[in-house]
Amino acid sequence: MKIETLRWSNGKLEMVDQRILPASFEYLSYDSAESVAEGIRSMVVRGAPAIGVAAAYGVALEALRLCGNSEDTCSSTLLSQDKADNRFKVGMEAGFIILAQSRPTAVNLFWSLKRMRGVWESMKEQSNIIVAQRLLAEAHEIFAEDIRINKAMGRYGAELLSDDVRVLTHCNAGALATAGWGTALGVFRSAAEAGKNISVIVDETRPFLQGARLTAWEMLQEKIPVALITDNMAGFMMSRGEVDAVVVGTDRVASNGDVVNKIGTYMVAVLAYRHNIPFYVACPLSTIDMDIVSGADIPIEERSVDEVKGFREYHWAAEGVKIHNPSFDVTPAELVTALITEKGVVQKPNREKLCALLATS
Ligand code: MRU
Repeated sequence: MKIETLRWSNGKLEMVDQRILPASFEYLSYDSAESVAEGIRSMVVRGAPAIGVAAAYGVALEALRLCGNSEDTCSSTLLSQDKADNRFKVGMEAGFIILAQSRPTAVNLFWSLKRMRGVWESMKEQSNIIVAQRLLAEAHEIFAEDIRINKAMGRYGAELLSDDVRVLTHCNAGALATAGWGTALGVFRSAAEAGKNISVIVDETRPFLQGARLTAWEMLQEKIPVALITDNMAGFMMSRGEVDAVVVGTDRVASNGDVVNKIGTYMVAVLAYRHNIPFYVACPLSTIDMDIVSGADIPIEERSVDEVKGFREYHWAAEGVKIHNPSFDVTPAELVTALITEKGVVQKPNREKLCALLATS
């Protein structure tokens, strides 16, 4: 089954509602920057690359909305607007702001908005209609590019795994977190495609349960053997020799190679180090933030305490207890065996190696 996390349909963006997976598989429809920002904020769509792709469509949808509400009307000359149309400019700026405020940690969001802004700013002489169509084409390109990148990472990553391999992953870095194929789960898909005998152990990933709900579901759809554990079981599995490698995704990598990913990843990295198990991070180049010196400088999203109290409407925590809910953590570069990128594998990442990698891209 090909999982279409995001799709363009009848002039709108449709996104699978990941809050209700795997119990229900439903698409919600989006037609403006504001609605897409809400979809990102509320976790209808999540995962760094998917957030970036959604934001690109959010910008394009806003441009289309501001110049006449649909792809078709926008392409008609009747609704052509003057390039200096103030309403368009003000509306677009507001759209960029609301999208940028939707979630703070995944750098792909800001990378994508910067790219879309670049396109807009390079077309200031053009009519709004032409700009809107070009922005939509750019969003489609970011979508297609993401799948190509994931497949390239998948090929490089699969080469790191032996023919018979048991991998552990945390959170969901799969088709559901990208335009398709996935980053960490893309490595597993590529390994399976290459004929390797791969089985996956997935941490449930408290509190939002991306592992139990999303990764387990994706691997089952793909018919890749998968076993679910709670987050506190990873060390025991490793101590019994049941994990050969760890592969995770990332939301942002600092210029020194520190990796920010879903809360709990640091714990897994420390355990992998203790047990001499390679810890790989699947990381598209768009996730590397050379403006950030180290992981300590990356903003870590604090989410609602309700997520920790229980799940959905059922709460099990003692009423009135103080609750923390940081959504991501920092794994220091020294614990990272290698970054898997679309340009190849970077062993023991550091600033020098990341500079060299980005200079050749
Ligand atoms: O809060 P989420 O579900 O958006 O967090 C997702 C992750 O932490 C993923 O591991 C990361 O974005 C990489 S996805 C290819």
